[in-house]
Amino acid sequence: MTITRTIPGIRAAKRRNGSDPLVMVTAYDAPSARVATEAEVDLILVGDSLAMVVLGYEDTLQVTIDDMAYHTAAVARAGPTAVVVGDMPWMSFHVSAEATVTNAAKLIRAGASCIKMEGGSKRIPMIEAIVAAEVPVMAHIGLTPQSANVMGGFKIQGREAEAVGQMIEEARLLEEAGCFALVIEGVPDLAGRLVTEAIDIPTIGIGAGPETDGQVLVYHDIIGLENRFKPKFVRRYDKAFESQTAALAAYAADVRSGAFPAENETYAASDELTEALGLYGSGPGAAPDDRAN
Ligand code: KIV
Repeated sequence: MTITRTIPGIRAAKRRNGSDPLVMVTAYDAPSARVATEAEVDLILVGDSLAMVVLGYEDTLQVTIDDMAYHTAAVARAGPTAVVVGDMPWMSFHVSAEATVTNAAKLIRAGASCIKMEGGSKRIPMIEAIVAAEVPVMAHIGLTPQSANVMGGFKIQGREAEAVGQMIEEARLLEEAGCFALVIEGVPDLAGRLVTEAIDIPTIGIGAGPETDGQVLVYHDIIGLENRFKPKFVRRYDKAFESQTAALAAYAADVRSGAFPAENETYAASDELTEALGLYGSGPGAAPDDRAN
């Protein structure tokens, strides 16, 4: 069963009910959103991973709601057919319900049709406030990078039975609070499966095994533009770092050798302009017959 790219369409996309798996990819700018649109993904996540992936930070804690709105707007300007998910960054939903709703509105006004928020049941008051303001919410549990300091790093979660039980309970509470989908990150495959079985909203996994209702990966990981670190769950489909380096090196070589730009890459001055500037022949004032070309 194909997926309708609307919030109700995504909410209904449960594999056990015959849905195709959901395909989500991150994008942070207009060109990558255009590529994702051509590739017909279901959801584009303007993730706060942009802090690490494109802004060069060590973690995701450095981006603000205004950074996220700026990148969400760039993605939206590409006119994607996918549902655009705006990621709420750290400290944009931790202070008060009022500030949370105001911040969610910034992402919606920038072009997202829903927001994603990390964390379990302790986020429920904020989730309820956003849902009451008519903003659809995607939850995010398991390895939540905004909690890296608390977790002692980017560590796989749910390795013990008790933790998996808690995760299932959290997922149920998030569904009850009105979330329309749930990202589950960095957990053993069994935890991904059990959480998926426990709830009626779709799960979208990243490093959560094959049995979630969909998958999400970071754009730069998929195309191999990020080539420094490859987590186990990443599959690279291209070698963009290598191919782009080769392209830039070829350009540099052509500039240095004079092979670029060629005649067909040059705006030739008209005869009138050349003549008016007195540049025919060997110098200013030379007769047209002396022209060198
Ligand atoms: O910010 C992000 O890219 C994410 C995904 C990894 C789910 O939250």
